[in-house]
Amino acid sequence: MNESTKQEPLLVRACRHEVLERPPVWFMRQAGRYMPEYREIRKKYSFLESCKNVDLATEISLQPYKAFGMDAVIMFCDILIPPEAMGMKLGFGDKGPYFESAIRTRADVEALSIPDPMDDMGFVMNLLSGLRRELADDPETALIGFAGCPWTLASYMIEGGVSKNFAHLRRMMYDDPELLHLLLEKITQTVIAYLNAQIEAGAQLVQLFDTWGGILDPAGYKEFIQPYHRKIIAGLKRDKAPVVLYVNGSAHLLELMAEVEPDVISVDWLTTIPDARKRVGDNMVLQGNLDPIALLTRPEVLEPMVRDMISQGGNQNYIFNVGHGLIPSTPVENVRLAVDTVKTWNKQLASSAT
Ligand code: CP3
Repeated sequence: MNESTKQEPLLVRACRHEVLERPPVWFMRQAGRYMPEYREIRKKYSFLESCKNVDLATEISLQPYKAFGMDAVIMFCDILIPPEAMGMKLGFGDKGPYFESAIRTRADVEALSIPDPMDDMGFVMNLLSGLRRELADDPETALIGFAGCPWTLASYMIEGGVSKNFAHLRRMMYDDPELLHLLLEKITQTVIAYLNAQIEAGAQLVQLFDTWGGILDPAGYKEFIQPYHRKIIAGLKRDKAPVVLYVNGSAHLLELMAEVEPDVISVDWLTTIPDARKRVGDNMVLQGNLDPIALLTRPEVLEPMVRDMISQGGNQNYIFNVGHGLIPSTPVENVRLAVDTVKTWNKQLASSAT
């Protein structure tokens, strides 16, 4: 087989605007605590150990794919690995991730390094290249890499961990915007090198997570977020891997997200897919946007919601996903039901027509 006849994964074909038999399906946070197999591993190893031990991370990345047959494997890692590689001390406690000391001054920002992805985060690239080998017999399934965006990473770095109102971050934005830009720029350089290394290691699609991008109004977004999305997207080897842009709480920002021309916009559940399409144009590939809490409901409620979503999204320019990550109390049977419903969509359409 030469390069051009090698079969591309369904997910990548969706990003290239192909008309497909059905939309591809995967879920943000598809690996994790809702799976008993994952909880078993976490009894013995901490979260960070599970990310950094390539054998464990490989096993965890493959768990949802093996159990439910999603169309993609997303590497098991966390968006806070690059800030750690920039020089911060990362921990995960009961309340989520934290840094031992937060970034508050110019000296703090200047002390951060721009890491070399292979030297400082080599385990991530080893994970990806190993996963590609694991998937060698299944060229239809895509391998996804990812990174957090500068604004979201800066929020954890400046707050020192999870925050309710982002007071330190927003105060820096008003008090010393230049300092915040300096930090965002350093993170941007880190993210570009990191994602290109992931693509070189075998990621076939990369997703940018800007989980906290939605806390800014459009003017703030234009100043502190959009330029960095633009730079990252321009800096990536996109001929080798399409790029998905996800911003949580993005109902007021979709047009601005489209301006940076990602291959895919991942939509949260506050906007419908047809409405998002009207706003960003028919030619943009959209991903989303089942409310992850819908997966906690009864099967007879969930299944029609999934069907409705597929008929809104259709089999071109659409990737089935959730509007934000799966939560730990998600029943595994519902994840299976949702995946199966998407995967058999066409067959059911055909049988209901006869
Ligand atoms: O999607 C996947 O299956 C890949 C794995 C993945 C994780 N984190 C594993 C994880 C991905 C893509 C992420 C991204 C991530 N991490 C984001 C952006 C996406 C989003 O959900 O908004 C953010 C904001 C983080 C930072 C982070 N990591 C938080 C706030 C927390 C604590 C909250 C929580 O769910 O526990 C984490 C921990 C984390 N990252 C877990 C997992 C499976 C739980 C760790 C555990 O086992 O206790």
